[in-house]
Amino acid sequence: MSSSLLLPPASLTTERLEALAAFYAANLTLRPRFTKGSRWARRVLSGPGHEAWLLAWLPGQGTDLHDHGGVDRPAAAAVAVVSGELTEFTVRPGDFPGLQRQRLGAGEVSVVDDRTVHGMRNLSDAPAVSLHVYSPGLEAMRTYLLDETGLAPSKILRAGADW
Ligand SMILES: [Fe+2]
Repeated sequence: MSSSLLLPPASLTTERLEALAAFYAANLTLRPRFTKGSRWARRVLSGPGHEAWLLAWLPGQGTDLHDHGGVDRPAAAAVAVVSGELTEFTVRPGDFPGLQRQRLGAGEVSVVDDRTVHGMRNLSDAPAVSLHVYSPGLEAMRTYLLDETGLAPSKILRAGADW
């Protein structure tokens, strides 16, 4: 067996992630569920170098600020809103990091590179559904706290244990 067969698949470009997220969002066959206790999330596809998740957000549900894998195996991501509206908060680095806020409606796609710290929340009064593509597949997320002193790592969440 050639050793090259053992190499992990190459990560996808952010342009490819954006196109895949839009394609998967437009071709969903799984119906999401809305759960009050915590957000509903299912991995709907695992492909070469990437995976796709379907998430359902009731009004008020959201994530902490997070990255996609910390320093070990960071993943880039694309998020396509399938229905409803989500608000994305992206940390802008600097001596005094700030948050950029972006509203995403149905059919819109947001792309984050593998170093970006962001969070998402449903600030609307209606449920929302989103389709997320990560490359490489998401193994961990590190959460952060942001205050006037800066951005501080908080928790590490791991696939299979925390979601
Ligand atoms: Fe994320």
